[in-house]
Amino acid sequence: MDLLLKDKVALITGASRGLGAASAAALAAEGTNLVLSARDGDALDSQVKRLTANFGIRAIAVPADLTQNGVSDSVVKSSLDAFGRIDILINSAGASQGGLFWEIPDQVWQDSMELKVMGTIRMMRAVIPHMLENKGGRIVNIVGNTGLQPSPRLLPGSAANAALLAVTRGLAEELAPQNVIINALNPGPTRTERWTTLMAKLAESSGRSVADVESDYTAQIPMDRLGEPEEIGRLAAFLASERAANMTGGCLTADGGWTKGIG
Ligand SMILES: NC(=O)c1ccc[n+]([C@@H]2O[C@H](COP(=O)([O-])OP(=O)(O)OC[C@H]3O[C@@H](n4cnc5c(N)ncnc54)[C@H](OP(=O)(O)O)[C@@H]3O)[C@@H](O)[C@H]2O)c1
Repeated sequence: MDLLLKDKVALITGASRGLGAASAAALAAEGTNLVLSARDGDALDSQVKRLTANFGIRAIAVPADLTQNGVSDSVVKSSLDAFGRIDILINSAGASQGGLFWEIPDQVWQDSMELKVMGTIRMMRAVIPHMLENKGGRIVNIVGNTGLQPSPRLLPGSAANAALLAVTRGLAEELAPQNVIINALNPGPTRTERWTTLMAKLAESSGRSVADVESDYTAQIPMDRLGEPEEIGRLAAFLASERAANMTGGCLTADGGWTKGIG
């Protein structure tokens, strides 16, 4: 299926690795031009080199720390300076930590909210006026299935995800008449650096092996495996495309069948 994404412009946060990088690769394969943002400029530069060489697209790197107020506006300005438009925003920056609830300090909760929730809110607030002027746009928030089904050792991320699902749903209603479409993508456990680091920390704090801790999660997944970043990247590209034109305020869950709720 042609996703009709050729020559569109997508701005992706968290694009230096993991699900953001996988979304970038999936969009590049469709011929979409890219603005890649994250803090690690070297990692972004190598993504830019690889994707422009492999897919003949145009791409730029815009290094930025999204926990800093005002930075999202300059990321959007750099994107507009380079391409003159932003058709798609994919929010994938996030790094929530987990642990035993009564051992998690304030800072972990605050960091989770500051990057994932406020980072996403600031990016959307910076991009939406431009999308309204352009008479349309697509936003995909990479959130997480723990927003629907909180996981006891992953509560800072679960709370951030629940907040983002609420914002995604409410904002979609506000913007649907202007053809600005917003959806959430809810991955379950997916093998990225974030997941590996999370498992290593949980293993260390509980005195168990990483494989043992990870099996607590895979045992609950009917497919009995972690997701792969490319699987999520392809779904992000689909949600960003005209092929998902009648879907807004929704969430697409891709977690190997873990989440049991209907909705
Ligand atoms: N992997 C999973 O199992 C899973 C499941 C459900 C939901 N999710 C969600 O999906 C999103 C992406 O996760 P991932 O697994 O791809 O994580 P990841 O591999 O750790 O990638 C996180 C991305 O966020 C960027 N980032 C971190 N801090 C930043 C900051 N202060 N400013 C700007 N960018 C920053 C990182 O780049 P730099 O370090 O270069 O800044 C990186 O590109 C997260 O919100 C995560 O909660 C992941």
